[in-house]
Amino acid sequence: MTKLTTQSNKKLITRDFMLRIKIVSLLKSETPRDNIIVKGWVRTRRDSSNFSFIEITDGSCLKNLQIIADESLENYEDIKKLTTGSAIAVLGNLIESQGKGQQWEMNAKAIEVISLAPDSYPLQKKRHTDEFLRTIAHLRPRTNKYGAVFRIRSELSFAIHRFFRERGFCHIHSPIITGSDCEGAGELFKVTTIDFENPPKKDGKIDYSRDFFGTEASLTVSGQLSAEMFALALGDVYTFGPTFRAENSNTRRHVSEFWMVEPEMAFCDLFEDIDLAEEMVKYLAVYILEECSDDLKLFTRFVDKNLKSTLENIARSEFKRILYEEAVEILRKSGKNFKFDISFGKDLQTEHERYLTEDFFKKPVVIYNYPKDIKPFYMRLNDDNKTVAAMDVLVPRIGELIGGSQREERLSMLEARMNETGLLKEKYWWYLDSRKFGSVPHSGFGLGFERLIMLMTGTSNIRDVIPFPRTPNTIDF
Ligand code: 4AD
Ligand code: MG
Repeated sequence: MTKLTTQSNKKLITRDFMLRIKIVSLLKSETPRDNIIVKGWVRTRRDSSNFSFIEITDGSCLKNLQIIADESLENYEDIKKLTTGSAIAVLGNLIESQGKGQQWEMNAKAIEVISLAPDSYPLQKKRHTDEFLRTIAHLRPRTNKYGAVFRIRSELSFAIHRFFRERGFCHIHSPIITGSDCEGAGELFKVTTIDFENPPKKDGKIDYSRDFFGTEASLTVSGQLSAEMFALALGDVYTFGPTFRAENSNTRRHVSEFWMVEPEMAFCDLFEDIDLAEEMVKYLAVYILEECSDDLKLFTRFVDKNLKSTLENIARSEFKRILYEEAVEILRKSGKNFKFDISFGKDLQTEHERYLTEDFFKKPVVIYNYPKDIKPFYMRLNDDNKTVAAMDVLVPRIGELIGGSQREERLSMLEARMNETGLLKEKYWWYLDSRKFGSVPHSGFGLGFERLIMLMTGTSNIRDVIPFPRTPNTIDF
């Protein structure tokens, strides 16, 4: 009985939905279709002597649908006033197009004007700069390019879940509010309900024991520490969530709020970790090449002429793996005049990363075994006592896309590193527990989701691949 009800409900919804068809599926039709409804926004209108062409989009794909509105339509006078950005519903027949440039068009039997956009609508026909569009971030998804960016963002998110699911990973929702600083870099946004006009004080300092959580709390910089606890229970897990960094860097590849994908695997060493990272990036490149070809063509045409070949190269090539020490040697011998010097013990800057992946190897590069002093406390110390089992994946145009490591699974070594880096063992007692009870070698990495989208779309500024970017000094939307 219950089943029947559900089924009939489903049917109703489907039928209701069928009345309105999305342009993406209409354009895939194999035969003409009668009496369908399409709803969307006007891109352009051209009038000839006794009919008008109206191009509409409904956001479901890059392509527009061309509507033919004949003067015999009852409200033709209103139709002739349709402006760019206006919303309409069209009832009509899908027919084979006589014109060039499209296979299908729609012959309107009735057009309802849902709302008319005034001439002040900022997205008129001409092309706009990315800088201008950033000032109207609430409207930019209506442009062809940004529509494509955000469709690809959604596709990539789906492909990431599919990638992990196919490999038996469990998706973990790690917390957003946390009491720990995973990366130890102090780039934390505080979460507090303290009244700053009149804060509770003890010995001249703010008394956080009287704050909401009874201690200092912040937005998470990474889900890793939680993911580790779950990997040591469920085996292979991943988190995919927002992360926050109060880092004052105004660059093309940093934002204060970004999304990170973080797999964590038990019984996994650094090299297996690198294998997974390489497999994942290639999988996603192939996915975009195969599933998003229309949107990809737009980026190849208007954003980066080499995009398709870059992605094909990523999908095909074996990522180059080199020691940090070797990377430093290559950079020192490059004869390049870098803005930042490089020598053993210093972190690589974007210019160094880009030289290695774009100019020297001309493909993705994995650098591993970094000096311990430039890396966080949780990375596994190598036998040389100087380096840790860390790895970064560098890709053309972006530099660092992924950062990961094998984790220190030996309790005494971990405690020693915590002492060295000034972390309070009492605070991380729960983390240390995982090394006391059934500790095993384990590894993981973090992939910056926005940097991935930059890579896959050729976009050069990270602000243009996230709906409403958060960066120092701006939070307009
Ligand atoms: O290298 P990161 O800091 O690594 C971690 O947070 C580890 N806990 C990950 C792990 O092992 N589970 O950050 C990982 C990635 C970087 O490689 C970069 O792609 C991205 O996150 N990222 C940023 N993306 C945009 N804006 C920022 N400010 C970013 N900081 C890091
Ligand atoms: Mg990093």
